[in-house]
Amino acid sequence: MKEKKSIMDRIAESNKAVTTGVDEKDIKSWVTIYVMGKAYKVPAGLTIMQAMEFAGYRFIRSCGCRAGFCGACGTIYRKIGDYKLHAVMACQTRVEDGMYLVQIPFAPAYKATYDIQKEKYEVGTLFKYYPELARCVSCNTCTKSCPQGLEVMDYIQDAIKGDFEKVAHESFDCIQCGLCAVRCPAELVHYNIAQLARRMFGYHGNKEPELLTARLEEIEKGKYKKDWEKLLKASIEELKKLYAERVREAD
Ligand code: SF4
Ligand code: SF4
Ligand code: FES
Repeated sequence: MKEKKSIMDRIAESNKAVTTGVDEKDIKSWVTIYVMGKAYKVPAGLTIMQAMEFAGYRFIRSCGCRAGFCGACGTIYRKIGDYKLHAVMACQTRVEDGMYLVQIPFAPAYKATYDIQKEKYEVGTLFKYYPELARCVSCNTCTKSCPQGLEVMDYIQDAIKGDFEKVAHESFDCIQCGLCAVRCPAELVHYNIAQLARRMFGYHGNKEPELLTARLEEIEKGKYKKDWEKLLKASIEELKKLYAERVREAD
């Protein structure tokens, strides 16, 4: 059976610089991409992020995990003759000939501050912090912009109906890249609205799992005190060993 790579291995692999160790004679096919309007010939098959590094860009922003999890590498592109504006993650999307690329390293967006424990479990809470929800015109642009393929408009509609559970499930894979919000004509910040809905459901709507309750009681009674003290005294090497040997639940 093929060994499943850990997330850390995948991240380390993606982090190998493509600008080193590549002999240009070995590269069989090339494509032309445009970064901020400037043309670059890059090897076909690279991700947008790797291709930009090949072209000489160094990422100090707009790049994080390089593995599709952190949402930092939001990128939009268009191809000549194609009106459509594509929104993708640069670390997860391969270059194509004729891509005109623009990085969106950060999308400034409003985020409400609240104390989830004090909020009422009702739709009014969402509207209190994000009244712009009412302005959604159902244009579906947010869904078309989402590189995670989420049904963003649907979860916004569920938020308007106060179905916190549905929003929580439908937005679960959101990586907070902000690409939906930068294109919304009603100026919604979808991912922050969804985050509030998930927190509301998590704190007020979701039944506390029995196993978690039992474990918390054990912790409060001091069952793990000795283990905890041992961990605090352990060296980095010992911690690494313990981490590598930890018992994990089956997937
Ligand atoms: S882009 Fe904005 S207005 Fe359009 S469907 Fe999404 S939330 Fe509604
Ligand atoms: S819902 Fe918005 S913020 Fe979340 S992954 Fe999709 S486009 Fe990015
Ligand atoms: S760098 Fe983290 S999702 Fe692309």
